[in-house]
Amino acid sequence: MSAVNEKKVAALEAVKYVESGMTVGLGTGSTAFFMIEAIGEMVQNGLQIKAVATSDETEKLATKLGIKIISLAEAKRLDVTIDGADEVDEDFQLIKGGGGALLREKIVAHNSDLNIIIADSSKSVSKLGKFKLPIETIPFATQLIVKELDSLGLSPVQRMNGDANYKTDENNDIVDIDIWDTHIKLTDLEQQLKTIPGIVETGLFLTTTNVVIIGKGEETIVRK
Ligand code: 5RP
Repeated sequence: MSAVNEKKVAALEAVKYVESGMTVGLGTGSTAFFMIEAIGEMVQNGLQIKAVATSDETEKLATKLGIKIISLAEAKRLDVTIDGADEVDEDFQLIKGGGGALLREKIVAHNSDLNIIIADSSKSVSKLGKFKLPIETIPFATQLIVKELDSLGLSPVQRMNGDANYKTDENNDIVDIDIWDTHIKLTDLEQQLKTIPGIVETGLFLTTTNVVIIGKGEETIVRK
């Protein structure tokens, strides 16, 4: 079974948590795509929900499929958010931000009662860090942050989009760092990174996830 199909079966399992009357957080990425598509179909069949999008790309897709998008301020609180991840470990800790939407994704997750992560089986790991950790930075500070992260041994690389710097929906930069060999506890690393002025957010999601749904072959593994 391909990764694409595993993403789809995980997404289809996750949308079972969505009911009429809910406010739903919509994640970003190729796995979230299948979830948004499925919710779009449910809406066509009468499901009544409001949704908050975690990226411009997601908002565009959801709107096209007839899903009503509202602002986070309007939503105030979300019932459930369904999103993908780049890596998920056994303790429900994640690396996110491969698609560059980590800032809005973390804000939406923080404001959601239930957070469901969907992924294909390649994303399930025993230790986070093979995937480079994305860090969102304010352009004014990015070059100096890269220097500082380099001096901490984190091998920072500013993300590019062709010849230009990659830009997030908030018009910030992304710096990808290597945390594989770091011996610092992830909670401490997160705290340390957040003390550097100009780092807006990191792709470490350590405490927000409630349910993980992994597509494995034709089946899903659901962890709660
Ligand atoms: C975007 C994300 C995505 O959830 C993550 O990159 C996984 O994407 P995909 O489902 O395409 O593998 O964090 O910022």
